[in-house]
Amino acid sequence: MNIKNNKIILKKRPIGFPKLDDFEKASETITNLNYGEIIIKVIWLSLDPYMRGRMSEAKSYTTPIKIGDVITGGAVGKVVSSKCPNFKEGDIVEGFTLGWQEYAKVNSKMVRKIDPSLAPIQTAVGVLGMPGMTAYFGLFEICKPVPGDNLVVSAASGAVGQLVGQLAKIAGCNVTGIAGSDEKCQYLKETLNFDNVINYQKDNVFKKIKEYCPEGVNVYFDNVGGKIADDVISNIAPFGRIGVCGVISQYNLTEMETGMRVQRAVLTNQASVEGFLVFRFEQKYSIARKRMANWLNQKKLIWKEDIVLGLEKAPESFIGLMKGKNFGKLLIKLDS
Ligand SMILES: NC(=O)c1ccc[n+]([C@@H]2O[C@H](COP(=O)([O-])OP(=O)(O)OC[C@H]3O[C@@H](n4cnc5c(N)ncnc54)[C@H](OP(=O)(O)O)[C@@H]3O)[C@@H](O)[C@H]2O)c1
Repeated sequence: MNIKNNKIILKKRPIGFPKLDDFEKASETITNLNYGEIIIKVIWLSLDPYMRGRMSEAKSYTTPIKIGDVITGGAVGKVVSSKCPNFKEGDIVEGFTLGWQEYAKVNSKMVRKIDPSLAPIQTAVGVLGMPGMTAYFGLFEICKPVPGDNLVVSAASGAVGQLVGQLAKIAGCNVTGIAGSDEKCQYLKETLNFDNVINYQKDNVFKKIKEYCPEGVNVYFDNVGGKIADDVISNIAPFGRIGVCGVISQYNLTEMETGMRVQRAVLTNQASVEGFLVFRFEQKYSIARKRMANWLNQKKLIWKEDIVLGLEKAPESFIGLMKGKNFGKLLIKLDS
């Protein structure tokens, strides 16, 4: 069997914000399926901020993509050929390393079969996948909300943030979301019922947090780091919990930033700061997935996706993600 595969590879390592010419189209012919391998026709690509780290050589928790290699990332697809007894043609699978290509030939250990009756299949890389698990475990296991807590979440309209705010509402918190446009803020308030919203592009975050949380912030779910984090943490309440999930404001810096010193606020309020990587909770994903699917089906959770059509749009969409152009979970739908 010969399958022509079109893909997008890393041409050179981005410096600062990625640019279109850091990426390149390429093609290959896929042949020779070995025992244990399957070929997947990719249907949905998940574009996630952590992928920026994989494009650089800097030490991180993921291995860098080599120059000339396909851009790896989460994806959902259909098995079109299998030499593994556990997978048959037509099975829908999700994998973390399938990447920006039309077909992926992988060892079947690299994917998991998904149940298409649970929810639309692309939710396997969204609310029922890595971002959903991040919101669930980051909130409940790291931030430990209690009813009445003032909770603040940044990148609040994104894949993780939109869920953190809604889960925190289910947990009885008073939720403040920080996002980068009036449109996003309006959505958080009117559709997702967040209590307060802050547009960090035009509001003074420090002052607004003081106004919305006069007794302090009990929980800060940090998706962005940088100045926004400084402004929130400076308002931390006694025994506040800060879950450091991501620092997207830092991913494209070419020089380190200096900012406000927040240690005094952490010390005097006896606050705790904990960073986490979602994979820590892998053993418990199935429990969280069931709970999230129930809330989704009961319409207690609303899930917003930002869908872009065509593999060739992946580079510009990814660049847009780094600049806040996405509104909701960013997905690429491949031509079928
Ligand atoms: N720890 C883990 O295991 C784990 C797992 C998944 C994700 N994460 C992290 O969680 C964070 C959110 O991920 P996501 O998948 O939900 O992404 P996302 O929110 O869908 O997209 C990123 C959003 O971040 C905001 N942003 C970009 N640059 C910013 C800046 N300089 N300052 C403030 N906000 C900025 C933009 O929205 P605005 O328009 O609001 O600026 C953008 O839409 C990322 O930092 C990611 O790396 C961590």
